[in-house]
Amino acid sequence: DRFAHAPHFHWPHEGFLDSYDVKSIRRGYEVYKNVCAACHGCFTVAYRMLRNVCMTPEEAKAEAKRATYLDGPNDEGEMYNRPGKTADYLPKPYPNEQAAAYANGGKAPPDLGLITFARHGYENYIFALLTGYQDPPAGFQVDEGLYFNPYFRGGALAMPPPLYNEVLEYSDGTPATKSQCAKDVACFLRFAAEPWHDERKKLALKLVSLLALISAALAYYNRHVWTVLI
Ligand code: HEM
Repeated sequence: DRFAHAPHFHWPHEGFLDSYDVKSIRRGYEVYKNVCAACHGCFTVAYRMLRNVCMTPEEAKAEAKRATYLDGPNDEGEMYNRPGKTADYLPKPYPNEQAAAYANGGKAPPDLGLITFARHGYENYIFALLTGYQDPPAGFQVDEGLYFNPYFRGGALAMPPPLYNEVLEYSDGTPATKSQCAKDVACFLRFAAEPWHDERKKLALKLVSLLALISAALAYYNRHVWTVLI
């Protein structure tokens, strides 16, 4: 297999003490919902998880309500449709893998919930893939229904280029260039794969500080105990 290695980009949440960029996650959710969700699910994210991260509680509730879920059976044994609740996970575009493959020329779009961690390069890969579509080099045979992308293992994939400039309008007015959308959706998908990221870094800071204190105390105690021999 020949494919290109995704370059490294400087993500807002990259450093030891950097938190997620919640405005980018909000825009990324808008990209996911308006573009990717037509073909991909995202099984790791429930509406309640967007609450106080990139939406107010009221916004998250209203956003969930706009989605429809098949529920049941009720007391009469029937399935029924109901509006979403914040406890619901983001809706899936297809009822099953076969339907997903059938609608996409035989290749099922993978669920994006953990895709960031499932590919080498993490969010760098997502960004590179989304912005990397180009003409194939001379002599490279691209099969019917596939699109050349040097970052995809194998060189051609069944996903048509999903992003272009102005593919949507952001609610915060940020110009929705292709690369802006790719960056924002990559931030959202990293959030989807690791929603506890900020907590993890906060905990790490506490741990390291505490370890430093304990080490200092132990070092002092050690010298104190052995002082008669040193
Ligand atoms: C595959 C992301 C929109 C159809 C993928 C993969 C990613 C991805 C990360 C996996 C590539 C790999 O296996 O390494 C996204 C994002 C989108 C988006 C972030 C929105 C910005 C769409 C749309 C469609 C689609 C709108 C349908 C028209 C597919 C298909 C595959 C795929 C069929 C499987 C490709 C193959 O294995 O050949 N997508 N996608 N995607 N996507 Fe998307």
